[in-house]
Amino acid sequence: MPQLLLWFLFITFLTGAAVAAPGDEVSILLEFKNSLQIPSASSAVFQSWSTAVASPCNFTGVVCDSGNSVASIELSRLGIYGSIRFSSLCRLPSLSKLSLGANKLSGELTADLLKCSRLLHLDLASNTFFGEVPNLSLLTSLRVLNLSKNDFSGNFPWSSLANLTNLQSLSLGDNSFDQAPFPWRSPC
Ligand SMILES: *[C@@H]1O[C@H](CO)[C@@H](O)[C@H](O)[C@H]1NC(C)=O
Ligand SMILES: *[C@@H]1O[C@H](CO)[C@@H](O)[C@H](O)[C@H]1NC(C)=O
Ligand SMILES: *[C@@H]1O[C@H](CO)[C@@H](O)[C@H](O)[C@H]1NC(C)=O
Ligand SMILES: *[C@@H]1O[C@H](CO)[C@@H](O)[C@H](O)[C@H]1NC(C)=O
Repeated sequence: MPQLLLWFLFITFLTGAAVAAPGDEVSILLEFKNSLQIPSASSAVFQSWSTAVASPCNFTGVVCDSGNSVASIELSRLGIYGSIRFSSLCRLPSLSKLSLGANKLSGELTADLLKCSRLLHLDLASNTFFGEVPNLSLLTSLRVLNLSKNDFSGNFPWSSLANLTNLQSLSLGDNSFDQAPFPWRSPC
């Protein structure tokens, strides 16, 4: 009898471990959804964002990698409000694309954003994010960074770009950054 119980616990442990990751991803995405105010015109988009849908890969605007882990979130032009808790969102282990442009999102880019270390594409353009942009030098995979048309201020962390050797597109216009000479290095 104790042996049977042990087996039961062992098997529960095994299956529990196997499903833990996808379940976590669903709860991270639902936490993100709950932090948003969604205008009724966009509510249909978020209808699939529910525990009733078996996989987060079937949430509208979400694309998964071959391992069924969330790789991309694309929710542009939906009129959504709210501030993003990067401490939660950046727990998605495979997130490489976050595209939330042309909404009404607000808040500061906290250093928690740096936990999104797999990011290749970050588009937060045309929102009302404010405050200083944190030192981005840990986001070494970034190819596209679009922070244009927000209310960012202070000094843009130019020196952190030295570490972003994959960067192909950088848009920062229409913000309230402090004026600073454009940094450049002479070709040598
Ligand atoms: C996603 O939805 C489709 C039907 O729209 C279904 O065939 C597929 O099995 C679902 N995938 C997952 C992982 O739930
Ligand atoms: C931000 O810039 C990227 C790259 O140029 C572009 O593809 C994207 O559409 C821009 N985002 C918005 C909201 O305009
Ligand atoms: C540059 O990125 C690497 C990770 O690829 C990190 O270890 C290093 O600290 C970063 N450098 C700076 C100056 O932040
Ligand atoms: C960002 O941090 C790195 C070290 O982690 C440092 O070398 C770099 O000067 C910092 N950049 C800014 C703009 O603070």
